[in-house]
Amino acid sequence: MTLHVLREDDGEALPVVLLHGFPLDHRMWEATAAGLVGPREVLAADLPGSSGRTSSGAAASWAQDAAPSLDDAADRLAAELAERGTRRAVVVGLSMGGYVALALAERHPELVAALGLVDTKSTADTDEARAARLQVAEETERLGTVEAVTGMATSLVGESTRAAQPAVSEQLAAWIEEQDPADVAWAQRAMAARPDRTHVLAAFPGPVTVVVGDEDTVTPVAAAEHMVEAAPAAQLVVVPRSGHMSAVEQPAAVAAALSDLAQRADSA
Ligand code: MLT
Repeated sequence: MTLHVLREDDGEALPVVLLHGFPLDHRMWEATAAGLVGPREVLAADLPGSSGRTSSGAAASWAQDAAPSLDDAADRLAAELAERGTRRAVVVGLSMGGYVALALAERHPELVAALGLVDTKSTADTDEARAARLQVAEETERLGTVEAVTGMATSLVGESTRAAQPAVSEQLAAWIEEQDPADVAWAQRAMAARPDRTHVLAAFPGPVTVVVGDEDTVTPVAAAEHMVEAAPAAQLVVVPRSGHMSAVEQPAAVAAALSDLAQRADSA
């Protein structure tokens, strides 16, 4: 687990903590972070299961002691934040990062002032999805490469991005190639083991923004609407011309939604 400071600020505004999707790392947030409004500290984690050029193999070494778990990722993140003196933050996660954000809200509620849930869902995997993940984990370990997930560079983005911004998939492919196969396997097993956390949203007292690309086929608009229905004060932002990687495909729109969330959290 590594926390990267994407923007420094020691003012009064709540910091924003950005949690990446799979199989990526903190770099997927750079464009969105650049578009966040106002003076505000912005941190981005390399969660276990991502290399991010700084923590390769870290998740694999945890797996020797314990079953892969996003709860552990949330606990490690809470410990890292405590160590640097961050006691409260706006926590934003895309897809797998959203699963970790919900785990953090359940296990460390004092830390989470507001939740940004981007292209993600609050439900657990179906049996079929879980079996597919375990197969990818097994194949990744057996081959010792990330080959089983390289196709995600194109399958995660929307049709509009594939047509109009081919550089996005090229960038995703380059980031995916840099991930450690053992970490990729760890993340698949950890995601397969996660529980349904819809009840966490229902009980969450702070501001919530749910963001989803209108062309997201992995966690579609219906999954976002399910979360908004669960969280009474949640706001829904549907990002046009975007698939599952809205923060990379349409960073300005995501930055605008998250800036608004952070401002609501500051004044809550
Ligand atoms: C992600 O983008 O983090 C993944 O699509 C999450 C998942 O596989 O559920």
